[in-house]
Amino acid sequence: MKKIIVTIDGWSSCGKSTLAKQLAHKLGYIYVDSGAMYRAITLYFLRNHIDWTDPGQVHQALTDITLEFVPNSKSGQSEIYLNGENVEYVIRDLVVAEKVSEVAAIKEVRAFAVAQQQQMGRNKGIVMDGRDIGTVVFPDAELKIFMTADNAVRVERRFRELYEKNPNVSLEEVKSNLEMRDYIDSHREVSPLRQAEDAIVLDNTNLTPAEQFKKALTLVEGIARSE
Ligand code: DC
Repeated sequence: MKKIIVTIDGWSSCGKSTLAKQLAHKLGYIYVDSGAMYRAITLYFLRNHIDWTDPGQVHQALTDITLEFVPNSKSGQSEIYLNGENVEYVIRDLVVAEKVSEVAAIKEVRAFAVAQQQQMGRNKGIVMDGRDIGTVVFPDAELKIFMTADNAVRVERRFRELYEKNPNVSLEEVKSNLEMRDYIDSHREVSPLRQAEDAIVLDNTNLTPAEQFKKALTLVEGIARSE
């Protein structure tokens, strides 16, 4: 089968990365979590007290940032490194989640991340999830999936995930963060979250991860065979 590019975009916490990882694993493709890049940049800005409303500071900070995805030696799953440090877990904190949409709306930040994302996909055989992957990063991707799920289901899933790491987190806090991020992500000027015209919608409100994986795999196989 020919190698293709699979893009998975959609709202926060609707299972994009779970599906993307499963597909990449099954197909022997690279998996790239583009949101992790925006989160790592946000972490750098927060740690270094960068005023991201100041374009000069943003520009300088970006020249000091190196991002890499490195496979974990045990799980084989790729993890993000910020200037040589594994930040895969710290970037999931609510402190980062609260600011990431603001940082991801900055034009220069997006240009920085998108250029690297396009480079990663130059040989195809890649599954990338995010918000603008099918619309901006790989507008010619062979398969574009747009994921969605009911709000309450998404909040509950995200809450469970965060609660495992931090039992002090509240459902209300998670709900308002999710709503705020979705609003900013879909209303920003540069590359807002929107469904590509040629994307296939996958609503997983009532699907198990196994069911959604089966559906997506059928789509990939159909396309990759006909390429
Ligand atoms: O997928 P995620 O929740 O880890 O993404 C974190 C934030 O990064 C999200 O609120 C929006 C932003 N993002 C983006 O603007 N473009 C992408 N391609 C991926 C994520």
